[in-house]
Amino acid sequence: MTKQEMIARVNGLKKDRHAVILAHNYQIPEVQDIADYTGDSLGLSQEAAKSAAEVIVFCGVHFMAETAAVLSPEKTVLLPDRHAGCPMAATITAQELRDWKSKYPGRKVVCYVNTTAEVKAESDVCCTSSNAVRVVNSIPDEEILFVPDKNLAAYVARQTGKKIIAWDGCCYVHDRILAADVLAKKRLHPEAEVWVHPECRPEVIDLADRVISTGHMVAAARETRAAEVIVGTEAGIIYRLRKENSRTVFLPVKDLAFCSNMKKINLHKVLEALAEMKYRVEVSTDVSRRARGAIEKMIQL
Ligand code: 13P
Ligand code: SF4
Repeated sequence: MTKQEMIARVNGLKKDRHAVILAHNYQIPEVQDIADYTGDSLGLSQEAAKSAAEVIVFCGVHFMAETAAVLSPEKTVLLPDRHAGCPMAATITAQELRDWKSKYPGRKVVCYVNTTAEVKAESDVCCTSSNAVRVVNSIPDEEILFVPDKNLAAYVARQTGKKIIAWDGCCYVHDRILAADVLAKKRLHPEAEVWVHPECRPEVIDLADRVISTGHMVAAARETRAAEVIVGTEAGIIYRLRKENSRTVFLPVKDLAFCSNMKKINLHKVLEALAEMKYRVEVSTDVSRRARGAIEKMIQL
């Protein structure tokens, strides 16, 4: 089957199944191009919550599809590659969180959206990279537990002035972006602005002009007057930034900022997912009810 035939088949099946395709900004170009909506974790969860579709084909990683399943229990949520997981989300289980919480009685738990539904079910409120500071500021307490990203936690602590006790997890893709990488790129492009994701290390954040989620990078790109921007996040977003903005040159901080899990889905797997209605992502009623509380609190904010 040619690519054009595959696209036509996906569009046909989408209509038959009353399906919508959601894709994260890190997905490969052919997946971004077939999606009805491409965005960051917050945008994707809002889109999943409000969509009238009966089937959501989620092109991202497992925790994102789970969040969609929690928010829309009446819909069928499909993850086109069942092995597309997030190594950072895998750094903490619900039991580990329960054990950790018991050492800090009375402390509120903020969980990054990059966690399993079971971990969300053990948390007070969820956050994404675009609203983590606002979520933490909405809690009156001065000492807060944060899972699982220690880099995002450090950023939030600096922005809010609160004491954030962080789980020792991180995103290997963002953690491998070093200050030396930013400085080397900056030497080659001294006039370029530097935009980095808050999952980056504190010393990388210190070198940035803007610290923003992938969704805010997409929005900022439409408005920037900078001729060149060095982008410190997973390199998949560069495709979208370049496609939508021809005036600015977007430079990945390093080509190896690459999340292999985000690249597991392709057009062929999207087609198979719709044709065979696989792989269904389901969350048990009890976990879903408790996780929904944490996610909805965030969405209300
Ligand atoms: P955002 O798109 O929400 O900024 O998240 C980045 C990320 O690492 C998702 O896995
Ligand atoms: Fe997880 Fe990082 Fe990959 Fe996002 S980029 S899915 S946080 S490993």
